[in-house]
Amino acid sequence: MLAVAGLVASGVTGATASAAPVDEACPWVGSTAPVEHRVDQVLSRLTQAEKLGLVHGSGGLLDVLNPTTYAGIVKAFPRLCIPQLSLSDGTAGVGGGKTGVTQLPAPNSLAAAWDRGLAAEYGDVVSAEMRGKGANVALGPTLDLARDPRAGRSYETLGEDPELTGALAVPQIRAIQGNGLIAQAKHLAAYNQEALRDTPLGNAVVDERTLQEIYLPAFEDAVRDGDVDSVMCGYNFVNGVHACNNTYLLSQVLKGQFGFDGFVTSDWFAMHASVAAANAGLDMQMPGSCYFGTRLKAGLDAGQVRASRLDDMVRRILRPMFARGIFENPVTGTPDAVVTSPAHAAVARGVAEQGTVLLKNEQNVLPLPASGSVAVIGNAAGAGVLGSGGGSAHVLAPSIVTPYQGIAARAGGQVSFDDGGDRARAASVAKAAGTAVVFVAKWSSESKDNGDIALSDADNKLIEAVSAANPNTVVVLNTGGPVTMPWLNQVRGVFAAWYPGQEYGNAIASLLYGDTNPSAKLPITFPTGLDQVPAKDFARFPGGQYSEGLAVGYRWYDQQKLNPLFPFGFGLSYTDFSVAGLTAGPVAADGTVSVGVDVTNTGTRAGAEVAQLYLSHPASDGEPPRLLKGFEKVQLNPGETKRVRFTLDARAFSHWDSTLHQWIRSAGDYTVSVGDSSRHLPLTSSVRVPTTIATSVPTPPAPQGAPTGGDSVSGILANLVSCPDEALFTGLTGLTSLLGLPPGPQATIPPANP
Ligand code: BGC
Repeated sequence: MLAVAGLVASGVTGATASAAPVDEACPWVGSTAPVEHRVDQVLSRLTQAEKLGLVHGSGGLLDVLNPTTYAGIVKAFPRLCIPQLSLSDGTAGVGGGKTGVTQLPAPNSLAAAWDRGLAAEYGDVVSAEMRGKGANVALGPTLDLARDPRAGRSYETLGEDPELTGALAVPQIRAIQGNGLIAQAKHLAAYNQEALRDTPLGNAVVDERTLQEIYLPAFEDAVRDGDVDSVMCGYNFVNGVHACNNTYLLSQVLKGQFGFDGFVTSDWFAMHASVAAANAGLDMQMPGSCYFGTRLKAGLDAGQVRASRLDDMVRRILRPMFARGIFENPVTGTPDAVVTSPAHAAVARGVAEQGTVLLKNEQNVLPLPASGSVAVIGNAAGAGVLGSGGGSAHVLAPSIVTPYQGIAARAGGQVSFDDGGDRARAASVAKAAGTAVVFVAKWSSESKDNGDIALSDADNKLIEAVSAANPNTVVVLNTGGPVTMPWLNQVRGVFAAWYPGQEYGNAIASLLYGDTNPSAKLPITFPTGLDQVPAKDFARFPGGQYSEGLAVGYRWYDQQKLNPLFPFGFGLSYTDFSVAGLTAGPVAADGTVSVGVDVTNTGTRAGAEVAQLYLSHPASDGEPPRLLKGFEKVQLNPGETKRVRFTLDARAFSHWDSTLHQWIRSAGDYTVSVGDSSRHLPLTSSVRVPTTIATSVPTPPAPQGAPTGGDSVSGILANLVSCPDEALFTGLTGLTSLLGLPPGPQATIPPANP
């Protein structure tokens, strides 16, 4: 849609456009005229009431959890052939309690694959199933970072790094939008915890540089490279101003600095203001109508919101509807349609195979011998399996292939099973087998952060008992993120399988037996304990003080010289790789730097390696020691070498200057490091940057009439009183962040096959 903006700027749009109407009443439908012209045509015919109808939800407030409808609906206006917008959760597949859909692995499993092509396939499945269900706005992907491993929604993220997040979000967005749907990137911005969300206490206090360098770049990638059509603002306050009426985030950064010309939707019941939200840059209320219906009308009548602003809101919503062909090629599916397919299940399996990280493999305990006996231990290999996390990203599986089922189907030798309920019994089952594979799980969900990153006591003791009985013990973690491993030295193998979706059993069997060679890499650091994590102090998490600043994820561990349990970017394979022949630079006339490196498979099996490129700035830039700036996954046969090439642009060498409010590339000596994890970077090369230049425009000032002060408690209360229905849900959102989700489809752990 940036191209659309370009057309406007160059004056191409307008009277010269030749329309080819298919419908005399609605000449914009099927027209080949520029999008902006068609938007103008519709806009000029809309009444104020119709315009208001396009900027808020029209479903009932309880529809959010109703699987027979959509999380949000903007009603159709048949008079002008404007189709209904049906918004549905789409972070990890079609959510909202709908059945007949594919349960994909969690987004952080996708992130662990470090594979842009796979991210596109993921987006293809999500959007095909959305269409089949009749939804045309996919609420996802989630671009928030995993700032703290306790965060309930960590599993929904693409990890802890902005570069990796942006790189994997873009192909997903392109795939969704290429399929004729609107993607909605979420949640702008610095929404990194559930505790106290949607209350003024859920306030991220974060400095400008940290916002710009850590929490906003994935949104910028989504806009500039992904051409994303819509963005959802978060539940949190940012520096005292709610994200959904935050002029800095919505108007100055997203629309001004990034050039976003689509629409911003509020998270569900997140709104705390009407006039202020409209003037700050919010374009659509979801799911109700109070703030942007009656109250916005009052604001317009009183002259507190300009008519041109309402036009802008509508324009931003109509633009992607035309750009994606939603007028011409409306979705025809229904909420009860069965949309899963063997092809989609194959993608689910592929992501689980590519996203499951091999963390330990001592004495080559893996792959399992083809005909050896295996004891499968743990409820998490059977009825307690977790295919998906909880909350709005929860997806119901048609059925889950449990690990026990997958292993039993694949194994050449004898397979025994014990649910681990009785440790002594489990240990004796393990002892009788050649290898014991223990499956453990930990639940996490939207609406409530986890209090710790430990497995249950019972699970830790089970692993200890099994590993004491059988030295060939392998642990498979089925968790939303990092957990501690007090038993690590007692086991020979560990896999991190995240929430792996409906094909879990087939994928893990394929990895255990070596049919698939593991190639995943951690998208998030595994700490030794909570005393190591960047936001370990209460003031930071859940207190909301982002005083660790830029030192998020591996940046923190590097800066503090801490040795995590497993570093960011780490993951083993059944073969070995080496890197050699690093070349970097010089800086070309256009500011780019070419980097090349040879990656060789030195082992005896085919496999894939992820070459990771980190950049170190001159000390005066004040950056953490190393920043991920590029990655490429290469498939290599035994003995094969491939040259991997990266192009770093001037922006890659830049830091945010909070005085100038823009990106600056400093002159100086930078170090390029390449390797296979953030802590194994055997090759380095220096790049001299000769001159200092600005590499972005400065953030523009607040638009005229936009609110610039902080939200006052009395103002928030007055707004809640004026929209009591919404206030009830807003209050519930805050309350559940302390208590957890009430039982319901979003909170339920899916029943698994025995
Ligand atoms: C979540 C959003 C989601 C929305 C609609 C909210 O609770 O924060 O991510 O898209 O619900 O279900």
